[in-house]
Amino acid sequence: MAQNPVPVLSTYLKLYGDTFRFYLGGLKEAIVTTDPAVIQHVLKTNAENYRKSEIQVRRMGHFLGKGLLTTHGEPWKTQRRLIQKGFDRKQLDALSSIMQDSLTESIREFDRRIQDGPVDIYPQLMEMTFAMVARSLFGARLKREDIDLVSHTICTVQEFIVRQTLQPYLNPWFAASGELKKHEDMRVRADNVLLEYIKERRLQPPGSDLLQSLMDARYADGEGMSDELVLSESMQLLVAGHETSSNGLSWLLYLLSTRPDCLERVRDEFDSVLGDTLLSHGDVMKFPYTTQVIQEALRLYPPFWMIDRMAVNDDQIGDVAIPAGSMVIVYVYGAHHASRAWDDPEEFQPERFVKGSEKLRTPFTYLPFGGGPRVCIGNQYAMLQILMILSTLLRRYDFDLVPGQNIVERAMVILRPKNGIQMRFTRAAVVERQAAAPANAL
Ligand code: HEM
Repeated sequence: MAQNPVPVLSTYLKLYGDTFRFYLGGLKEAIVTTDPAVIQHVLKTNAENYRKSEIQVRRMGHFLGKGLLTTHGEPWKTQRRLIQKGFDRKQLDALSSIMQDSLTESIREFDRRIQDGPVDIYPQLMEMTFAMVARSLFGARLKREDIDLVSHTICTVQEFIVRQTLQPYLNPWFAASGELKKHEDMRVRADNVLLEYIKERRLQPPGSDLLQSLMDARYADGEGMSDELVLSESMQLLVAGHETSSNGLSWLLYLLSTRPDCLERVRDEFDSVLGDTLLSHGDVMKFPYTTQVIQEALRLYPPFWMIDRMAVNDDQIGDVAIPAGSMVIVYVYGAHHASRAWDDPEEFQPERFVKGSEKLRTPFTYLPFGGGPRVCIGNQYAMLQILMILSTLLRRYDFDLVPGQNIVERAMVILRPKNGIQMRFTRAAVVERQAAAPANAL
């Protein structure tokens, strides 16, 4: 279970039906569900009764402070209202050029790396998306070395949190050996770097990035957020946004490399809509087929393979009793692969997401971005980001999967490709597609 929970949970589903109980570590009662009625109840209808799990609140809160990911109730509601504005249509329009500039810089580096042979696309895409989110937050002036420092800190601290969670008996040793302090110090160093940007920005003319919208946000009494709160909210957006889109994109490229017919259709759609221009937020709705392909990739490989909650009071939904204090695991991966909800669930069939199909689908059978009031705040941003990167990569390169790899999932916090995904990229496509490729912008 600790090594890779997905196959274990999927086997239990087959044995015990779409909602079952087990005792986590033999102690804590956990209810695993793929039943859309139970999921809807927990995430939406009675969401007030369910808090984020202890892992997210206590362990992540220790390193990340208070923010959207780690708060509940009224404080969460207030912050969510304020931060939501940073992701509205106008803001995403304004962010498009910052995102494209960041991508242009990352592609220059990527061009150099692919000359040395095949690359594992997972870390490459993670770097691209992290830089994009970081610049969307802190603006074009955010230095590359600072991006690298913060990214390294987040990855290292996240790995440490996973170790603390999977091996809780080691926590006294982590404290005594200085491991805990080492990670706390790393976090403080990254905080100080970002805090400098925030303080500097207070003295400068307004920008068009997310930092500005966090600083401009006002509570009902007219007050704004303190620098420290702006910092912890920014850090939480970086954490929530750094590995998710890159993960979705990695699986998407993998699937496309196995389906040349889909790949060609996606390329044609980019070519015909964009010509020689770069994609911006205003274009997002113009790629119906590509959108279906992305939705299908997020169904087969949902980056958040599960969503965990803790029941505050006793609850009942249908014949499922949920005692206070028990954990509910919304098993997103299981819901996305359920034969009750999907024909040939293991097949990659983008057509199942054809426009209008959502009306025929039972709610809460498809939830890559979660659901209810805590649905992903960055979902529109993520779609823009995925389309931007995909349109650039597909128009600029040909790519092939290196043969003989064992490509399998590993469910940690995020559903990662366990051994990476090695691909060979060549610039041949750019010669043929000179007119259409965004190479002129580089
Ligand atoms: C394909 C990409 C993404 C996927 C699949 C995804 C998925 C999710 C899911 C499932 C949740 C709900 C978690 C829960 O209910 O416990 C969530 C929440 C969240 N996401 Fe995303 N996400 C993506 C990209 C992003 C990006 C790019 C950002 C920010 C720039 C972001 C920021 C957040 C935040 C702040 C929350 C917490 C919202 C709250 O609790 O109010 N996400 N995401």
